[in-house]
Order: sequence, then C-alpha cells, then structure tokens
Amino acid sequence: MNHLLEVDDVSKSFGGHAVVRHVSFVLDAGASLGLVGSNGAGKTTLFRCIAGELPIDSGSILLDGAALPSRPDARARRGIARTFQIVELFGGQTVLDHVLVALQAHQGRQGPWRDLVHGGRTSSSEREKCMNILALVGLADRAEIPATTLSLGDRRAVELARALVGEPRLLLADEPSSGLDGEESRILIRILNRVRKETGVAVILVDHDLGTVKAVADTVIAMDAGAVIAAGSYETVVSNPQVMSSWLGQSS
Ligand SMILES: Nc1ncnc2c1ncn2[C@@H]1O[C@H](COP(=O)(O)OP(=O)(O)OP(=O)(O)O)[C@@H](O)[C@H]1O
Ligand SMILES: [Mg+2]
Repeated sequence: MNHLLEVDDVSKSFGGHAVVRHVSFVLDAGASLGLVGSNGAGKTTLFRCIAGELPIDSGSILLDGAALPSRPDARARRGIARTFQIVELFGGQTVLDHVLVALQAHQGRQGPWRDLVHGGRTSSSEREKCMNILALVGLADRAEIPATTLSLGDRRAVELARALVGEPRLLLADEPSSGLDGEESRILIRILNRVRKETGVAVILVDHDLGTVKAVADTVIAMDAGAVIAAGSYETVVSNPQVMSSWLGQSS
C-alpha cells in the first residue's frame, strides 16, 4: 500500500541559498509527525513546498503514490490543508463566518465575503457542516461572536477549523502553540488529538514547544540548515547529539 505522503530528496533554494536540502520522509494515513528545528531551519519552507505555494527545485512529493497538481488550491482539493504561523482574522465577522468563508473558498466560489455580507448565500447544510467543525475544535458556543474578540488560543482553534473545511487527509500545522500559555497549549493539544481521532487526518506539526510535539506526534524529524539531521521516536530525536547541539541549545 502507498504511503499517504512521500517526500523524496526535495530541495529548495532562494537566490542560491539552499533552504531545504535533500529532505526525504514518508507519512502514513492518520499518522502524526513532529517537525522540529531552530529558527530558519527550513520548516515553513518545506510546508510551503508540500502545500504547493512554492515550486521545488528537485525531488518529488507524492500523495497516495501520485504526483500532485502544482497549484495550492488544487492540492487543497486533493486533501492537503495547512494552518499559518500568523493568524489573520477579519474585523466584525463572526467565528462561524470565518469558517463558512473558508468552506466556500475551498469549493472554489468567488467573493465569499461579499456573498455573506450581501444576502447570506450560505445553505443550511454548509452552516451545519461548519458548526460541526466548530464543535470539534471546541468553539461551538462562540460561533456567533466576532472572531477578533477571541483569545489567541481560540484564534488558533478558528485557524484549525478553517483548515478542516475541506476534510483534509493531511494537515500541516505551523507552530499552532506559538505564543500560547501552558493552559492554552494543553487545550490546543487536546483539540489536535481529538481532531486526529475523529477525522483520521494525518498531521505534520511544526512546534518549538517540545511538550506539544511529544503530546501530538507519533514520530519526529529534526531539521538543521535545511537538512534532516535525525528521525525516529521523540526520545531518539531529542537525545541525538547533533539535535542537542544544533537546536536544543538555542531553542526558546
Ligand atoms: N520567500 C523567501 N525568499 C528568500 N528567503 C526565504 C524565503 N522564505 C524563507 N526564506 C529563508 O529561508 C530560511 C528558512 O526559512 P523558514 O521560514 O522555512 O524557516 P523555519 O524553520 O520555518 O523558521 P522559524 O522556526 O523561524 O519559523 C530562512 O533563512 C529564511 O530567511
Ligand atoms: Mg517557520
């Protein structure tokens, strides 16, 4: 059987500066992988390559053993979703509106905000679907409040809900616990693990917080200066001498 995702010998440079260097790994359906590494190691760039936001220079990225379309929206329809390091919310719009717009954008509809503002062209089944996703991420009781009034932890949950509208098979989560306090991080971990269990989505989690990585990821890979320097169980990777000197020594 094919792996869900096969990243094989992928490299990416910017203006001659190699940012992702010969990266290879596989991920099976429903599995979770932690991706760790110091600032600038190339983690977000690798995500952008997988999501189709950046073309790769060499290597291959396969989903279910097949090549991917180049455009990010087409990759999203093949089942790849991602969250962003910085959460962008729109003033005045409710939490539910944010998820509805993401759903409509995923369906390829034009001008979804305009639809919402002028006449609310959303079906009850779309609303029901979005409410189910909000329930999954623990926000059902706040669906009707403006999203900008939420705490950072809850904003991250909105971001996650938006990524889930297309029923992805692979979720790329870029530092979801960044800036959260201990309790907010614990809530986010519970949400991520619930999403995994309920939907079967495979997750690649980039996080500087080792506790979050340990709590969510089945296996871990560590990157340094664009290359994978260790892979395996959480314990194996964090005790690897190269990882300890290149990353753990500097991490915040
Ligand atoms: N579009 C771009 N053009 C040029 N250089 C870029 C671009 N995007 C990223 N880089 C550079 O590539 C390197 C890796 O960046 P990347 O954002 O992938 O790191 P990261 O591992 O996600 O770091 P962080 O933990 O800080 O988020 C950095 O040196 C960055 O400045
Ligand atoms: Mg990054």
